[in-house]
Amino acid sequence: MTDLDFSTKISKASEYISSQLSEIPDTCLVLGSGLGPLTERAEVLASVPYADIPYFPKTTVQGHEGVLLLAVLSGRKTLIMKGRFHFYEGYSTQEATFYVRVMAKLGVKNLIMTNAAGGINENMKPSELMVITDHISFFCDSPLRGANLDEFGVRFPDQSYVYDREFISTILSCADELGIQIHKGVYAYTRGPQYETPAEIRALRALGADAVGMSTVAEAIVASHSGMRILAVSCITNYAAGITSNPLSHEEVMTNANNASKNSIALMEKFFSKLEDRV
Ligand code: HPA
Repeated sequence: MTDLDFSTKISKASEYISSQLSEIPDTCLVLGSGLGPLTERAEVLASVPYADIPYFPKTTVQGHEGVLLLAVLSGRKTLIMKGRFHFYEGYSTQEATFYVRVMAKLGVKNLIMTNAAGGINENMKPSELMVITDHISFFCDSPLRGANLDEFGVRFPDQSYVYDREFISTILSCADELGIQIHKGVYAYTRGPQYETPAEIRALRALGADAVGMSTVAEAIVASHSGMRILAVSCITNYAAGITSNPLSHEEVMTNANNASKNSIALMEKFFSKLEDRV
C-alpha cells in the first residue's frame, strides 16, 4: 500500500460514511469488551456495517461486532464504533488504525475509547476501572511509520499529553458523583495475542506501567497526530500474569469485563452528559 493509496482510501471511506449518515458529530466512542450493551442505552439513528465501508478491515474477534453507529447518548449525538481492529488479528498498525484516520478526515474531534486490560498495579482489582493518563509503547511499531500524512499532522508529533487532561479530570469527577471507584494509570501496549509472561509483567512494572493491554495505544497515537482530544478508560479484567498463581484466560477477561459493564456504561453516559460542544 503506497502512501498515496492510503490517503485515497481514507478519503473514499470517509466519503462513503458521509453519504450514509445525516450528520457527523464531533465525537467517536470506541466500545471495548463489555461495553457492547451501551448501545441499548443509546438511541441509534443510523448504522453502517464495517463490511460496507470501502477499505475498512473486517473484525475477527468474537464480541466485536463490526458496525458504525450514529447514535444519541445522554442527549448528545456521537458516532459509536462497535468493534475495533487489533494488530494481533493480522493487521498492520496502519491498517488497525485506518478508522481513526477516517474519523479525522470526517472532522471528528474527540476520540473516546474503552478497553480491557490486565492490572499490573496490585492496588487495582479485577472489574475496577482505570483512566489512562499515559502509555508505554516504544517497543512496538508506530502507526505513523512511513511517509508523513501532512494533511493530518506533523512528522514528529509531541506526545507529552496524548490523553486530554480536561477529559481525565471530567471522568474522575463523573466517577466521584456516581460513587464508582476509578484509578489513574499508565497503560502498556503489547501486541498479543498471547498474554504476557510473569517476567514481562515484572519488566513492565519496573518501567512504570499500571496496566497492560492489546489495543488503544496505536489508535491514540494516530488520533493525537491529528490533534484529537482523547479519553481512554480501561476495565481491569484480570491480575496481570504472575501476580497470582492462576493462569490467564479470555473467559476470565470477558467475565470481569461484563461484571464491570454496569459501571463502565454509567460512567460513559455521565461523561457524555458533560461533554461540551467545542468548535
Ligand atoms: N494482558 C494483555 N491484554 C489484556 C489483558 C492482559 O492481562 N487482560 C485483558 N487484555
